[in-house]
Amino acid sequence: MTTESGALFEAEVAEAKAPEAPEKLEFPVPAPLDSHGPARVIAMCNQKGGVGKTTTTINLAAALAGYGRTVLIVDFDPQGAASAGLGINANELDDTVYTLLMDSKSDIRDVIVHTAVPGLDLVPANIDLSAAEVQLVNEVAREQALLRALRPVLDDYDVIMIDCQPSLGLLTVNALTAAHGVLIPLGAEYFALRGVALLVDTIDKVTDRLNPKLRVDGILATMVDFRTLHSREVIERVREAFGDKLFDTTISRTVKFPDATVAAEPITTYAPNHPGAEAYRRLARELIARGDAA
Ligand SMILES: Nc1ncnc2c1ncn2[C@@H]1O[C@H](COP(=O)(O)OP(=O)(O)OP(=O)(O)O)[C@@H](O)[C@H]1O
Ligand SMILES: [Mg+2]
Repeated sequence: MTTESGALFEAEVAEAKAPEAPEKLEFPVPAPLDSHGPARVIAMCNQKGGVGKTTTTINLAAALAGYGRTVLIVDFDPQGAASAGLGINANELDDTVYTLLMDSKSDIRDVIVHTAVPGLDLVPANIDLSAAEVQLVNEVAREQALLRALRPVLDDYDVIMIDCQPSLGLLTVNALTAAHGVLIPLGAEYFALRGVALLVDTIDKVTDRLNPKLRVDGILATMVDFRTLHSREVIERVREAFGDKLFDTTISRTVKFPDATVAAEPITTYAPNHPGAEAYRRLARELIARGDAA
């Protein structure tokens, strides 16, 4: 008989024996900053659900904060997963990102909450946000509502990360309009590439019509299992299709991520020595080395 903890233990042992990705590059530990801002705004997007957008938002943000960057996460999903994952119960809050979108007189500084991670702040979201998509349709400059809301704090943070919901609707268009860059997390599975063409098409339209500065910062392979030929093949296909846009850093599949979610903490504080925590620190170093974050 296998108990649940026994099964988890076996999974951990298997993980420990798993061959790791060949690490080709080393990214330097970034120098501390003397001053903060202006922010680089990064939208975490993929209309496919469950590919690691929220996990990457929380852990990359925490890793950047660990390197002394001031970071703001905008929870832009009515499910409020980024808020919950950082221990913030957004269901009890009256003022969330929804307030900022719908009331142009509201002040983002009244909505921002500090998290338990030093240097990491959050604009929370809850189910109220699900009404915004419909309500915004009749507003003037409906695609610019998030950009307008963020403007007062753009100089306060080094990085602002927007955790999008799995859709290409008006909220995601708002995120793309407010952003300088898009980071696309991609689960390393067979159908991963399906749908990315549609996302790139949306990004191109926003670049053309609303936000000429927007560009794809990179594609991140998540939930990679290097023990399987399958995972390695998917990564090869992504590299063929996107070349240098694929981050050198990959994120392996490990139960420590769901565990950290349950604990409502980033893996970088929940299990700082776990390879998953090091992977997100490496991604933070890579992003800074590429010039896509201060
Ligand atoms: N590298 C990983 N290894 C194992 N599990 C992971 C990994 N990354 C994320 N997960 C788990 O997979 C699930 C989906 O991840 P996550 O919520 O980050 O995806 P998402 O793209 O934000 O989903 P949604 O589209 O629903 O917002 C979560 O339970 C998370 O804990
Ligand atoms: Mg999510």
